[in-house]
Parts: sequence; structure tokens; C-alpha cells
Amino acid sequence: MAIPAIKLENVSFSYPVSEGEEHKAVDCVSLEIEEGTFVALVGHNGSGKSTLAKLLNGLLIPTGGRVLVYGVDTDDEKRIFDVRSSVGMVFQNPDNQMIATNVEDDIAFGPENLGVPREEIISRVDWALEKVGMSEFRHATPFKMSGGQKQRLAIAGVLAIKPRVMVLDESTAMLDPKGRDEVMKVVRQLNREEKMTVVHITHYMDEALEADRLIVMNDGRIVLDGKPADVFAEHELLTRIKLGVPCVTQLAVTLHEAGMAVDPRITDEEALVDSLCKLL
Ligand SMILES: Nc1ncnc2c1ncn2[C@@H]1O[C@H](COP(=O)(O)OP(=O)(O)OP(=O)(O)O)[C@@H](O)[C@H]1O
Ligand SMILES: [Mg+2]
Repeated sequence: MAIPAIKLENVSFSYPVSEGEEHKAVDCVSLEIEEGTFVALVGHNGSGKSTLAKLLNGLLIPTGGRVLVYGVDTDDEKRIFDVRSSVGMVFQNPDNQMIATNVEDDIAFGPENLGVPREEIISRVDWALEKVGMSEFRHATPFKMSGGQKQRLAIAGVLAIKPRVMVLDESTAMLDPKGRDEVMKVVRQLNREEKMTVVHITHYMDEALEADRLIVMNDGRIVLDGKPADVFAEHELLTRIKLGVPCVTQLAVTLHEAGMAVDPRITDEEALVDSLCKLL
């Protein structure tokens, strides 16, 4: 069997908080992510999502257990370079991720730091801009762009490093609906066309619905892990840990609870419309 892109073995991470005290943010998590999977990761504020994300590319090293990226232990200092170039990270605030005053230089920054030859950088910049649908912005100024465009640029910057896994930590959270759509479209395409493994942290349940696999964290642990439709069927547990379900599922649940013959597990709009039409 192929090596998983990501493997966590009993991983814990504690932040030191004060003299002799620590806070366990990730608590004994084991997990495997196959190459090419689109994973969504959700959880209440403080459930440990960002800490887990940072453990995936060696920004944080586990205080217990181990993280393997294509079989390489992130704790192996000699291989940290491989780990960092395998797992790209896109963060929440688009403004904090821009380095240069022009798009081309911004995208070239990553590969330049890795010592990639000039010719290769030029072709990577072309390719990355095309992948995020921003080829015509090559000479533009990032600071004047919309939030969605800036995040697509941040994704292009990560792509230029040619990672095999892309982790997006609430990268749509600060965007308007149009910007969110733009970013999700790019992420979906990278997953389908480039077979990029994606870990998408979000608090939008509608975005989570698009993933192949949905992981739910609570209090540093994984509490649900499966196909989005199966995970959203656990709405009682989700409500208990203060998470919602997609709008369409919420509507189906409400109608079901009001005594209508509607399946509360519905996750797609057409299915809900169909079952409502049948009732009428
Ligand atoms: N640098 C730090 N020092 C101490 N505690 C921290 C630090 N960073 C995070 N924590 C704590 O660790 C826990 C997990 O935080 P983390 O940022 O991973 O959660 P999250 O799920 O990403 O939350 P959010 O939805 O707010 O982004 C929280 O209780 C948080 O307060
Ligand atoms: Mg976070």
C-alpha cells in the first residue's frame, strides 16, 4: 500500500502557559490522510485545529507521539526542509501573507528562498498564476486587490513551492461570499486536476460538505471522522459541541422535528426539494 501523505501516531501537543504549567491543545490524535484526499477539518473555537495544522508541516513539533509526512518524521531536523516543502500552508488573513509589492515577485519569493533556478521560477510563476486564474494580474499590485484575489495570490505563492499537500487554516474566513467562492473553486480544482491533498479548516459547514472526508475536533481530540453526509447525520452530537450543520440539513432536521416526513440526513438541496415536492 502507498505511504499516506500524512500520518499522525498518538500525537499530543501542549503549550507552556506559565511556570510548570501547560495546556494540552492536541490530545493523543491518530490519523492517516491518503494522497489526493480533500479533507475538511471543523471544530469549535479553541478545539485545536490550528495547532494540528501547524503540526502537519513542522511549524510545531509534537510533545507526544509523531507526525509523518510521506513517511518523514517532522521531528527529524535534517529532513525538516522536505517536510516544509511537501506541506504548504495558507492562513486566514490575506494581508499578512503578502511579501512583495508586485504579484510576480510575491509568488517568486518562496522558490527563490529554496534556491530554485531562475528559469524554473519563471515557469512556476506562470503555472501558479494560471492555476489560481490570475494570469492577467502578473504585474499588478497585491495591496489593491479584493480579499478573494489576495487569497488566490497567497495560494499561488504556496503552489510555487510545489507542495504535495495544501493546508488552509480558515483561509476563507475573512472573505465575502464572492471571495469564498473564488477560493473554494481554486482549491477544488487543485484537488481534482493536480491531485493535491487538501486539508481545509473552516467554520462554514457548507464548505465542509464539499470535502471527501470531514474531521470534527473537540477539546483537542477527533470526535467524528467520515464522509460529510455521515458526519452531519450526527446533528445531536454536533449541536452538543456547539457546531452547526449545513443550511440544507438544518432545514431538513427542523421539518423532520416538526413531524414532516423529511429525511433529516439530507445534505443536498435537490434532494430536499424532491422530498418536499413529494409531500405536496
Ligand atoms: N501560543 C499559545 N500558547 C498557549 N495556548 C495556546 C496557544 N495557541 C493556542 N493555544 C490554546 O490551545 C488551544 C487550541 O488552540 P488552536 O488555536 O489550535 O484552536 P483552533 O481550533 O484553531 O481555534 P480557532 O477556531 O479559534 O482558530 C486553545 O485553548 C488555545 O487557547
Ligand atoms: Mg485556528
